[in-house]
Amino acid sequence: MTEFPSSKWADYELIDCGCGEKLERYGNVVMARPEPKAIWDRSLPLEKWDRMMHTRFSPGAGFGKAGKEDCGTWSRNKAFKDQWYISYHGLQKGLDFKLRLGLTSFKHVGVFPEQAANWEYIYANTRPGMKVLNLFAYTGAASLAARAAGADVTHLDSVRQVVNWASGNMESSGLDNIRWVVEDAMKFARREAKRGHLYNGIILDPPAYGHGPDGERWKLDDYLFEMLRTVAQILAPHGSYMVLNLYSNGYSALLGETVVREAFGLRDESAFSLKSGELALRDSFGKALPLSIVVRLALK
Ligand SMILES: C[S@@+](CC[C@H](N)C(=O)[O-])C[C@H]1O[C@@H](n2cnc3c(N)ncnc32)[C@H](O)[C@@H]1O
Repeated sequence: MTEFPSSKWADYELIDCGCGEKLERYGNVVMARPEPKAIWDRSLPLEKWDRMMHTRFSPGAGFGKAGKEDCGTWSRNKAFKDQWYISYHGLQKGLDFKLRLGLTSFKHVGVFPEQAANWEYIYANTRPGMKVLNLFAYTGAASLAARAAGADVTHLDSVRQVVNWASGNMESSGLDNIRWVVEDAMKFARREAKRGHLYNGIILDPPAYGHGPDGERWKLDDYLFEMLRTVAQILAPHGSYMVLNLYSNGYSALLGETVVREAFGLRDESAFSLKSGELALRDSFGKALPLSIVVRLALK
């Protein structure tokens, strides 16, 4: 399975990609950013990129190295506001939200557009009143999709500013009552397991490296299996779902499927559905750019 955002998304477009960069439009703002996976040539000449873009992110010293993966600086070619908004109007009725964007020193802007396929899955599989937990939740698009479907949502991230950003996104989307948690994801999941708390939907997008608010170390290779074993204890045994997303290079969809299968001890094939694949973007020239792997588990 390979999924792409709908080409009807008016506020987002991958214009071109190649030579280790991607050229994207978020609302009216066009930007160039590093994209190590774009190992082919650009479709448009570089001069055209330079003419179109408002801003370009240039990697700094240490870019790509552990702990400094995405550091660098933005140069501005044309004027635009420091903060601006984009809307997501999903393929399904009622899946609508707004996200505030801004340039951060880590090349990110506040949304991962290829995640739109997950937002659609979450919205389609969430019923009003379901309890949904979003771990490593960043600026909250997945939390908004679950809330728009009527879920009782807990949104967790280790960075206070990012959680405040997500809370602003909830307000600008006309949504309310998301529970905000600033904590280490592993710590929180272990505590929920100890307390016997259950969720009907769990979403997680763990990075390769990270930190909890008290310096707790997160390393995907070391902790993913334990995290999933803990998630298995707090996911309701029936009528529930889990969405695992991984951006980490070197992890395949099949690896994701196997780690989930083993962590949950999934054996009786009639009791669950387990699907894995890639989330990707397609540029305006038709080139497909795979960006993350996704594993979706539904317990019947
Ligand atoms: C890849 S981003 C998630 C992107 C998000 N799923 C989306 O599509 O918008 C990873 C997030 O994990 C958070 N994080 C890193 N280490 C963490 C930890 N130990 N506990 C909780 N959150 C952590 C970061 O602050 C960051 O917001």
